[in-house]
Amino acid sequence: MSRSAHPAGPRHADVLPEGHYAAPPADLNALVPKVWARTVRRGADGALTVGGIGVAELAREFGTPAYVLDEEDFRARCRAWRDAFGNEASGNDADVFYAGKAFLSRAVVRWLREEGLNLDVCSGGELTTALAAGMPPERLALHGNNKSADEIDRAVAAGVGRIVVDSLQEIDRVAAAAARHGVRQRVMIRVTVGVEAHTHEFIATAHEDQKFGLALADGTAAEAVRRVLAQRSLTLAGLHSHIGSQIFDLAGFEVSARRLVALLAAVRDEHGVELPELDLGGGHGIAYIPADDPREPHEIATALREIVARECGAAALGAPRLSVEPGRAIAGPTAFTLYEVGTVKPLAGLRTYVSVDGGMSDNIRTALYDAEYSVTLASRASGAEPMLARVVGKHCESGDIVVRDAWLPADTAPGDLLAVPATGAYCRSMASNYNHTPRPPVIAVAHGTARVLVRRETEEDLLRLDVG
Ligand code: LLP
Repeated sequence: MSRSAHPAGPRHADVLPEGHYAAPPADLNALVPKVWARTVRRGADGALTVGGIGVAELAREFGTPAYVLDEEDFRARCRAWRDAFGNEASGNDADVFYAGKAFLSRAVVRWLREEGLNLDVCSGGELTTALAAGMPPERLALHGNNKSADEIDRAVAAGVGRIVVDSLQEIDRVAAAAARHGVRQRVMIRVTVGVEAHTHEFIATAHEDQKFGLALADGTAAEAVRRVLAQRSLTLAGLHSHIGSQIFDLAGFEVSARRLVALLAAVRDEHGVELPELDLGGGHGIAYIPADDPREPHEIATALREIVARECGAAALGAPRLSVEPGRAIAGPTAFTLYEVGTVKPLAGLRTYVSVDGGMSDNIRTALYDAEYSVTLASRASGAEPMLARVVGKHCESGDIVVRDAWLPADTAPGDLLAVPATGAYCRSMASNYNHTPRPPVIAVAHGTARVLVRRETEEDLLRLDVG
């Protein structure tokens, strides 16, 4: 449908969004596959199904809002990453560490274990979850720019495979913990390589001005190498870099790889050691909206392998064992948030505000990063005209927006279910209890069966923390 055919078109002239949302899609009921988990379909009755289960049934059984996660998709994404990086054809010469901060639960840890992935944790809480779900400690990496003494101690005691050191002070702390436990701890050094990555682009300026890592440019990273090598209770496994998040352009990773290989060569020249491992971090972008165009794991793997092989060849270094740390690219597309519409408020000459029963407490990303999402009417198909809508939450804040610009059928009404795709990463894990709102459950669906991974919080849970 052309915009002029839209009855509300002229009234919306001043507020029409730009880019992808400037005009309604040809068919409001159509699902663009790349923003949805693999098994999501619109069924014969017009309602969405996932893993063969209809959303109305999920809402009845588990309530709304709820994060609905497609287990088959999660596992398939794990396999795609593992096959791209750690496959037998390449001699299993690379490792995939899932970044648990994107979303972690005990079931997720089991899936990772079964699918052959390793796991990054960045807090004592994530470490506890990983160990509780039986992840072998040697397949864990501990991250963080200010790990507590207790976190370091627990990680060393558990026998984690690597601790990624992020400051000069931390080198002494990890060394002391390892000495106390009578072990040699494998560590990597997180290097600030001077690439600042943004969504859709990267720029190589202002890069040192952030809290993570040890700077390459001023020699701190090289000093960290000296200090780690001087500690008898530490083994330096290699170098690490993470350049940012939701990145589509592989050029940033390539620059990072080049600079890290140059440092590997400098370490070889200064110390006579070839460090065996190189971790290029996470940050691989996903499709939140149809306009997003993410790279596939095998494309990423090919590009990174090539650049590392070329640079190592030029520096006469053996190729190090590679690792990557995708979080969002595995978890993000696997879940959608299911909401129920509570109120529909047309604002004359502006847009229609559609309020749902969740909001910034279950998805802070729109408010925090201006993140873009899409949304669809999930409980039924509709042949109604498109209306320019804003999907907002129920919190006491006007910035409580879930989807800033959306085209929804004009007959969207209270009681309808809406689904917001690509909420599997950094939504439940960043959820809050703002306005004393209990956090939604995570429901996993696979092969016609739904089960609770993380149960819904209750108001009693909140009261239990309030000890008076
Ligand atoms: N490795 C390290 C060392 C990281 O710091 C991160 C993310 C990752 C891997 C995984 O990045 P991913 O592949 O998921 O982009 N809350 C923000 C994202 C913060 C990411 C922090 N570090 C968001 O919602 O976009």
